[in-house]
Amino acid sequence: MKIVYWSGTGNTEKMAKLIKQGIVAEGKDAETIFVSDVNIDALLEEDTLVLGCPSMGSEVLEKSEFQPFIDEISTKVSGKKVALFGSYGWGDGEWMRNFEDKMLDCGCTIIGTPLIIQNEPDDSDKECIIFGRKIVTS
Ligand SMILES: Cc1cc2nc3c(=O)[nH]c(=O)nc-3n(C[C@H](O)[C@H](O)[C@H](O)COP(=O)(O)O)c2cc1C
Repeated sequence: MKIVYWSGTGNTEKMAKLIKQGIVAEGKDAETIFVSDVNIDALLEEDTLVLGCPSMGSEVLEKSEFQPFIDEISTKVSGKKVALFGSYGWGDGEWMRNFEDKMLDCGCTIIGTPLIIQNEPDDSDKECIIFGRKIVTS
């Protein structure tokens, strides 16, 4: 499975690595890919997408790399299962609700509840690993 993420200060990246641990623990291969390095054609061969981005701007996805990536895949992901995650600082998760709505509008099915973690996932390591496991088993 490919875990595609953007991270400025490393929190969402840390979540991505923990989610990978959970996926691997369920016996699936997983790799984390910074969004600017992703091969979109290869990604679109997958049935399940794992996408992570922190809350940026004012409750929006990161604008210069991650949002353009979503715009590019948006017409090509209908029917796929997606798992969404990201770190935030002080908001109430609005950016992730909008991200979820966007992917639903694209015709995707959302796996479980998107995982949002405030700042660094110190005490939430387990939550990220469990989320990774759930991606494989659901
Ligand atoms: C430019 C900028 C804008 C941000 N805007 C929000 C926001 O609107 N809501 C929020 O909850 N956190 C906001 N944050 C906080 C980040 O979401 C938080 O620091 C997060 O842990 C960053 O994840 P990262 O380490 O993966 O980059 C913002 C941070 C930056 C640098």
